[in-house]
Amino acid sequence: MERAEDAGVYQLTDDLAIIQTIDFITPIVDDPYAFGQVAAANALSDVYAMGGKPLTAMNVVCFPVKKMDITILREILAGGIDKLHEAGVKLTGGHSVEDEELKYGLSVTGTIHPAKVILNTGARPGDKLILTKPLGTGIISTALKKKSADEDTVTSIIKSMTTLNRQATELMQAVGVHACTDVTGFGLLGHAAEMMDDSDISMVIHSAAVPLFPKTIELAGMGIAPGGLQRNREFRRDMVEVAREVPDLLADILFDPQTSGGLLISLPVEKATALLEKMHREGIKEATIIGEVTNQPKGKIIVS
Ligand code: CO
Ligand code: CO
Repeated sequence: MERAEDAGVYQLTDDLAIIQTIDFITPIVDDPYAFGQVAAANALSDVYAMGGKPLTAMNVVCFPVKKMDITILREILAGGIDKLHEAGVKLTGGHSVEDEELKYGLSVTGTIHPAKVILNTGARPGDKLILTKPLGTGIISTALKKKSADEDTVTSIIKSMTTLNRQATELMQAVGVHACTDVTGFGLLGHAAEMMDDSDISMVIHSAAVPLFPKTIELAGMGIAPGGLQRNREFRRDMVEVAREVPDLLADILFDPQTSGGLLISLPVEKATALLEKMHREGIKEATIIGEVTNQPKGKIIVS
């Protein structure tokens, strides 16, 4: 509990630990079935971020039963179950309450060998940083709510948000890495900052190398930003130094809160190219080296 880890780990025996996590969200897309899939992929992600294998899950549902048709809930749950099925995870139960605002997610239990747990701390100077999915889901879903996002753009984030981080995890476990987290509510820089907590390292993020969904810059340029973006930036303002040549809009996007975002992986340089090649070959086409771990200025993230 003392560190901001992605999930809780409890060792049962010398070679077996359980990983537990819970995550639920408000609707991020209009289609209930897609929302169910996104929520499930998002909840499973914290187990994958630690290198684990999810096994069972329980639904968490808040539903405004008096003002919303129950068929919407059925579609959401169908999306969730289908995503669990794809992940090889069994639904073992759940709990629902009446609420003003719809929310859906899952509590997930997985397993891992205690020696194979990948923490979000442990990055070392000289490491490369790989990001496996583009950024922009917060800005684009906010644009969707304001009816400012076109269909292709929305389709591109749904495709990404419903993609499990399972394959990325399996490939990273096979190669062996120093640290990993998934990029979610705190944005890329917020989660990168967590990787540096209580350590002497620093990071350089090459803003031009960071993959973005189409239209993200354009929509941000129209002033569209989720509330969390500003909070994320304020919270980490002392840790982040943005080079003058980096456009403000781009620096802001690095704080965009993500739903079901990609993995941010820190690993030795000689392994980074090999892992990247494997990811590209296996269909994780957007995976990119976006920066590196350095040793000074200590505790700072330089955005270049
Ligand atoms: Co996480
Ligand atoms: Co989470």
